[in-house]
Amino acid sequence: MSKSTPSKPDPDAKPTFDLFNKFKCLRHFEQSVGFLGFFFVSICVICGFFYLDYSRAAAERFLFPGHSERFMSKGANKDKGVEFFGEKGGECDLFEGNWVWDETYPLYQSKDCSLLDNGFRCFENGRPDLSYTKWRWQPKNCNMPRFDAKLMLEKLRNKRLVFVGDSIGRNQWESLLCMLSSAVPNKDSIYEVNGNPITKHMLFLVFKFKDYNCTVEYYRSLFLVLQSRAPPGAPQKVMTTLKLDKMDWSSEKWRDADVLVLNTGHWWSYEKTLRRGCYFQEGTEVKMDMKVEHAYQRSIETVANWIQTELNSSKTQVFFRTYSPVHFRGGDWKTGGKCHFETLPEPGSSLPPSDSWDIVKIAYSVLSAHLNTSEALKVEVLNITHMTAQRRDGHSSIYYQDPKKGPAPLHRQDCSHWCLPGVPDTWNELLYALFLKHVTTSSCNSSRF
Ligand SMILES: *[C@@H]1O[C@H](CO)[C@@H](O)[C@H](O)[C@H]1NC(C)=O
Ligand SMILES: *[C@@H]1O[C@H](CO)[C@@H](O)[C@H](O)[C@H]1NC(C)=O
Ligand SMILES: *[C@@H]1O[C@H](CO)[C@@H](O)[C@H](O)[C@H]1NC(C)=O
Ligand SMILES: *[C@@H]1O[C@H](CO)[C@@H](O)[C@H](O)[C@H]1NC(C)=O
Ligand SMILES: *[C@@H]1O[C@H](CO)[C@@H](O)[C@H](O)[C@H]1NC(C)=O
Repeated sequence: MSKSTPSKPDPDAKPTFDLFNKFKCLRHFEQSVGFLGFFFVSICVICGFFYLDYSRAAAERFLFPGHSERFMSKGANKDKGVEFFGEKGGECDLFEGNWVWDETYPLYQSKDCSLLDNGFRCFENGRPDLSYTKWRWQPKNCNMPRFDAKLMLEKLRNKRLVFVGDSIGRNQWESLLCMLSSAVPNKDSIYEVNGNPITKHMLFLVFKFKDYNCTVEYYRSLFLVLQSRAPPGAPQKVMTTLKLDKMDWSSEKWRDADVLVLNTGHWWSYEKTLRRGCYFQEGTEVKMDMKVEHAYQRSIETVANWIQTELNSSKTQVFFRTYSPVHFRGGDWKTGGKCHFETLPEPGSSLPPSDSWDIVKIAYSVLSAHLNTSEALKVEVLNITHMTAQRRDGHSSIYYQDPKKGPAPLHRQDCSHWCLPGVPDTWNELLYALFLKHVTTSSCNSSRF
């Protein structure tokens, strides 16, 4: 495998998956187990061999005391060879693991993908290093399936996959568009259904993959709940309100999706709400004293209740992506905070900055409480916060302007959005694994076995 052809589907991936299908359905047949075992062991020996080679290469490139040893020690995990789709793999926590160097990454090149905002094209915008594109996520107790765009498109046939959230959600959506389109030779067969261009100003964009009759959509909804004008009689400083007990107006458009990926978090700050005259409302009452954290909690509860009561859980698979950490050092976005010159992950840092930690914890606790009831909430948490916190090297920093304008000034760095290809690709690989597992378990019974 050379790094210029990573977008070609791995020829091994599909057979592996088909085998897994049969395995699930025929798990009592010893011969298939025996064959599978032999198959996986062979694959693992081969992978392990290559893997050790790569991690050695990576360590040689980055001879950082302490770090190289950490990066090297991961070979053992791959050798264990428990596949996520295997019997034991299903119980593995995909979100606990390590970033490992992998020369077969990235999964696509930005120059080959027209479905990408200029703002995310760091390499084309002048970023000199590419090492941030070469880290693969390795879960601690199992292996993830290699992303297979064709297989995912096949499984999405006649379906709608919808991202709803803020601009980090758009970042992830564009990443998936590129990952999927890498398997489509005729790029003209992928188009926005209303003919709109990809820009950050659109409220929603719907891309159709014609050959598969599926759409991959994005809806901008910063808070997921409804933002509207101040009600009559509200104090003058109230410019708008967030109705914490009502879903965003656009929820009508995405409630029937087959796969729904929600996120919200970055806009739940004092600066972006109360400071701008955006207060919180429940029923007809504007809660003048309500704090942002409490409001966020109420909104996540509203989202959870909506999922539970309004969605058809046999049709819609729902994901909630957790907070994507920012990495401003020595300030924030408007006071010269920096992430420029970061070229390596930071394995030790697993916690996001403390000012957003409340938001992270609130979402965790509301969702876990709902997941833990007898009528368990049908939502899967894309728990990417901790793994992403280690990737200070992946941000757009000063490379979010197109080459004509050149890099942005050093005091205007973007340490919240991500370069593509880059970190959001990994979130989508996790999405892929969980999506595939879902469609497989729900179609297994209906198969002829
Ligand atoms: C295309 O997919 C939509 C659902 O997204 C479905 O309603 C429609 O029937 C499909 N069209 C064909 C030709 O299969
Ligand atoms: C829920 O979705 C399933 C699968 O698409 C469908 O068969 C069923 O009729 C739906 N139920 C309702 C109440 O719409
Ligand atoms: C997400 O992962 C972290 C660390 O692995 C864990 O502490 C947390 O409970 C998880 N949250 C959810 C909602 O699964
Ligand atoms: C879930 O509920 C059980 C008992 O109902 C309790 O023992 C457990 O601690 C709860 N787990 C979480 C994560 O809240
Ligand atoms: C498939 O069958 C198993 C038991 O044979 C059952 O527990 C499971 O709920 C079924 N799944 C579906 C989607 O029907």
